[in-house]
Amino acid sequence: MAKDPVRVLVTGAAGQIGYALVPMIARGVMLGPDQPVILHMLDIPPAAESLNGVKMELIDAAFPLLKGVVATTDVVEACTGVNIAVMVGGFPRKEGMERKDVMSKNVSIYKSQASALEQYAATNCKVLVVANPANTNALILKEYAPSIPEKNITCLTRLDHNRALGQISERLNVQVSDVKNVIIWGNHSSTQYPDVSHATVKTESGEKPVPELVSDEAWLRGEFITTVQQRGAAIIKARKLSSALSAASSACDHIRDWVLGTPEGTFVSMGVYSDGSYNVPAGLIYSFPVTCRDGQWTIVQGLSVDEFSRKKLDATAAELTEEKALAYSCLT
Ligand code: NAD
Ligand code: LMR
Repeated sequence: MAKDPVRVLVTGAAGQIGYALVPMIARGVMLGPDQPVILHMLDIPPAAESLNGVKMELIDAAFPLLKGVVATTDVVEACTGVNIAVMVGGFPRKEGMERKDVMSKNVSIYKSQASALEQYAATNCKVLVVANPANTNALILKEYAPSIPEKNITCLTRLDHNRALGQISERLNVQVSDVKNVIIWGNHSSTQYPDVSHATVKTESGEKPVPELVSDEAWLRGEFITTVQQRGAAIIKARKLSSALSAASSACDHIRDWVLGTPEGTFVSMGVYSDGSYNVPAGLIYSFPVTCRDGQWTIVQGLSVDEFSRKKLDATAAELTEEKALAYSCLT
């Protein structure tokens, strides 16, 4: 029997990530090849004509899974009945800016959209915040939507996770699909900590630890980390625009794993509300290693954290604490 359609909201849908993301959703990349979807696309009035153009293209592409398109500049109409909300709307970082430089513009958007989601989205709507500063926007959304369970509000660090997989695959000249269990800890910013202590590569003689295969600690603790931390800036420098296709694809990975589950023995990175695991201060949206099952994420417990890693986990937590205070000062 055909499944009922799932309503997926994409805010900022007329922007560059939106343009890459909506066809992926309509093709089943996010929710699976047998899951019909109704797309809700929100943007602001100056982008209304362009948003309508995206709607026209979605119709022209004749996606079999796409059962309807709502394209609107009305936040209530956009949020009504949505089961999944991918929050991309906001202002991207330009060359030379840090992600927190876009803070004041973006956190106020997340404060106001929190109430609309709280009032009009479907019960148990899952929220993914992509727009920067992603962790802090998600935290503001959570704080201003107190009736949405905190487990339902997450931010995107899967792009950083995928970047880390990509760097290891390039370095070892192995298939990216054979690399797993890298971890992004903390903020989606240049203080994030890409950690390969528990990562493995599938080889003909079984799974091998990445640190053993790379056997160049200086690279793993130096260039590898900075490359992943600075990849967003490197893309901006090269494209004169921030990452879009990789961001859209990673957003699909994030929601797909959250809804459909992570493969056995594999964990992924998600920005989630900290419960104090790994001595990360509670009350931050912090990226942790998680597994997902039955539509719920769980932080992977019991991984060893050496002294080098501990310092990095703490540094990115400190930045998030500072960002939280800055966000509140922007809102008052
Ligand atoms: P973009 O400027 O191309 O698109 C953003 C869209 O948001 C625009 O169409 C704009 O009109 C719209 N918008 C602005 N205010 C809005 C509001 N109040 N409600 C609804 N829509 C609104 O930017 P982009 O390149 O698509 O990037 C979007 C965001 O995603 C940026 O904040 C960027 O920094 C961030 N980003 C995050 C990641 C990540 O991994 N977390 C990766 C890439 C980009
Ligand atoms: C990215 O990581 O590509 C995005 O967050 C864009 C940026 O500002 O770096």
